[in-house]
Amino acid sequence: MIANKEQCCTVSCESPLDQNYWDAQYKSKATGWDLGEIAPPIKNFIDSLENKNSRILIPGCGNTYEAIYLLAKGFTNITIIDIAPTLVALLQEKFANNANIKIILGDFFEHKGEYDVIIEQTFFCALPPFMRQKYVWKMHQLLARNGILAGLLFNRDFDVNPPFGGNQKEYEMLFKAGFHFEKLEVALDSAAPRKDTELFFEFQKNNAVTVQLYTFEGITCSGCMENVLYKIAALSGVLNVSMSTNFEEILIVSQEEIPLQQLQKIVSHDEKYKIQPIKA
Ligand SMILES: C[S@@+](CC[C@H](N)C(=O)[O-])C[C@H]1O[C@@H](n2cnc3c(N)ncnc32)[C@H](O)[C@@H]1O
Repeated sequence: MIANKEQCCTVSCESPLDQNYWDAQYKSKATGWDLGEIAPPIKNFIDSLENKNSRILIPGCGNTYEAIYLLAKGFTNITIIDIAPTLVALLQEKFANNANIKIILGDFFEHKGEYDVIIEQTFFCALPPFMRQKYVWKMHQLLARNGILAGLLFNRDFDVNPPFGGNQKEYEMLFKAGFHFEKLEVALDSAAPRKDTELFFEFQKNNAVTVQLYTFEGITCSGCMENVLYKIAALSGVLNVSMSTNFEEILIVSQEEIPLQQLQKIVSHDEKYKIQPIKA
């Protein structure tokens, strides 16, 4: 299950964005995010894929117009995952006896597998922003060598969340060094309701780096966070470092895994600070 603390940089959400929350949205048909068809930029991306046997994952799949399109185009190895049981029961019925698609009811962050392509469509924005470091870490893990993460990210903020917005600079900081940015640009052919408000991206996994997520205890303000990040960023081999908005997780991208003792030493000036790796 995803974490229940929904503090984030923009708002404090009233309900935890957990399985019950998402299932209730499907039960009450409150699915305002559903475009009713595949988003044109994702359709174009799928049209550019040559290997019909690529292992493709769609996390937070919803009604998964992407999978319907992939099947129509002859793709043979599609996995879709969503946390909402009401939705997944319908998907199981819809795709019954189709060997080309695997349907999983579960939490993306607990999913194990290896994929050549992962498609992002309003899943990232559905997660509370404090999970963004975890998202990057998990995507890097799930991608095979040279694997591609591609899809759409909002390039705007929202008054009511979810969805949680963002912007190009923020995404660049988050994914830097863990991925090669093949494309990150304003989508020109968005569906009408999202025109000029989203970015199309295509990121290739950087195989040459280690991407590690750590739990962190003891930070309560952004000043202390900046101080800790600055120290870690200065370590030899560190290529990118960022902290979750609730100060509880640190993502480190480095040439080689940084020995834990070295990290512990560098934050030991404050005895409240505790850093521990999260196991994959
Ligand atoms: C905003 S909806 C988008 C659905 C679909 N991608 C679309 O664009 O129509 C977010 C989806 O993510 C699912 N979800 C949220 N947290 C999840 C998690 N941790 N693991 C798997 N699915 C999750 C929700 O149930 C919901 O279907």
